[in-house]
Amino acid sequence: MVNTWNLYQAETCVVWSRFSSFIEVGGRTGLGYRDTAQDIMSVPHTNPGKVRQRIVELLRAQVGSGYGLHLFEPERFDPNRPATPKFKSPTVVPEPPVEQLIHGLEDTCSDDHLWLVPSVCQYIKETGDFQFFEEIIPFADGGEGTVYEHLKRALDFSAAQVGPTGICKGLRADWNDCLNLGGGESAMVSFLHYWALQAFIEAALFLGRRDDWEKYMALAEKVRQVCEEHLWDGEWYIRGITARGEKIGSKQNEEGKIHLESNALAVLSGAAAPERGRACMDAVDRYLFSEWGLHLLWPAYTKPNDEIGFVTRVYPGIKENGAIFSHPNPWAIIAECRLGRGNRAMRFYDALLPYNQNDRIEIREAEPYSYCQFIMGRDHTAFGRARHPWLTGSAGWMYTAATQWILGVRPSFTGLCIDPCIPEDWPEFHLTRKWRGATYHITVKNPDRIQKGVKVITLNGRPVTGEIPPQAAGGSYEVVAIMG
Ligand code: IFM
Repeated sequence: MVNTWNLYQAETCVVWSRFSSFIEVGGRTGLGYRDTAQDIMSVPHTNPGKVRQRIVELLRAQVGSGYGLHLFEPERFDPNRPATPKFKSPTVVPEPPVEQLIHGLEDTCSDDHLWLVPSVCQYIKETGDFQFFEEIIPFADGGEGTVYEHLKRALDFSAAQVGPTGICKGLRADWNDCLNLGGGESAMVSFLHYWALQAFIEAALFLGRRDDWEKYMALAEKVRQVCEEHLWDGEWYIRGITARGEKIGSKQNEEGKIHLESNALAVLSGAAAPERGRACMDAVDRYLFSEWGLHLLWPAYTKPNDEIGFVTRVYPGIKENGAIFSHPNPWAIIAECRLGRGNRAMRFYDALLPYNQNDRIEIREAEPYSYCQFIMGRDHTAFGRARHPWLTGSAGWMYTAATQWILGVRPSFTGLCIDPCIPEDWPEFHLTRKWRGATYHITVKNPDRIQKGVKVITLNGRPVTGEIPPQAAGGSYEVVAIMG
């Protein structure tokens, strides 16, 4: 699944994004900003050229104040596009001028631009294309800036778009298209902001930009404090706050008491204090886990509430209203890996794995080699029925969760990090990883049957402290890591 089907699906998403097709009928003829920005994160090692192209397209569709154009046609923002199209059909409706394609704040999603920051860093960590930070790219509404400057604008936009408590505003929607909070606040976006800040801080440090490093460290600390002050509900993190100040995703609520995205991202981002992180993921396991994967929320909404958004009008148990929505499932797997709980990370992974669901194909009703956008949740009579295969953010994210967090091999700007988090009954595993032109044959041994922690690493028999430094391209290298 990991080497073949999952990777193939992840690449397919980068090529097709969510274009309207027989699979996905979203009325789309362009790239979805947030989906594309996430899909590219998982495949810079197998398709760096396509990933770079997509990053440039995304950056050209970012406005100078930092947000991204939610749905956009990349060629409309290509400065090299020929003035006269090659083929001109008499029936084609004339294109609107580019200025009309730039939406204002009312149509802006609060998360789109933030995914860019870890994605760009991931591409550079993989390829070593450090010059890319300095490449000049235009903004959609005029002016231009380096890639590095584009990332700063994304972070600054979210720092400015906060509500009364200091948590990021939800705007038209966040990752959840059906959570429409406007001036209300989104916990998920503040945690995402924190995660994007961490990625940027690492880049600023690597590039020696001391002023930026200090500025964004301070901002990250402020975001973390605001999150811990306003979002903790006693056993888990809430999902947001409506414009009228009502909590969403709290134990005080009758419906939608607990949501997956805010809790998984609280931990994945590193914002959650360790004991809160463990507690909230325990609650996720207790209330959201099923044999088909993790539900997005529980219990499903049955009463329309426009303060919360369209999610409360979606049929209970389907899609955003309490289905097993695949896309954030791997965030929870990564969260468990960050907590060092490999048994649970693997249980979450195994539950969603299409291959494992094939024994229940009469219920699943979908191919066993493709992740689906969602699986009907327990509040629906067709619990377990999967829909929308192929074009789903879970493809790339599951690949990342499996390879970079369970197997734990992750590139940084300066080296290859070996940090597995596995079930305690795995005695050892092997993998081959190509990175910046060199091939690493990696063996991880687990003599003490633990879930996380590496005590010794050797490279061609010699001890290495910390990460493996990049080796000469063209060579093959033996890495052995002993857990303990
Ligand atoms: O995050 C979105 C995605 O952009 C499109 N499909 C639905 C997801 C959840 O709302």
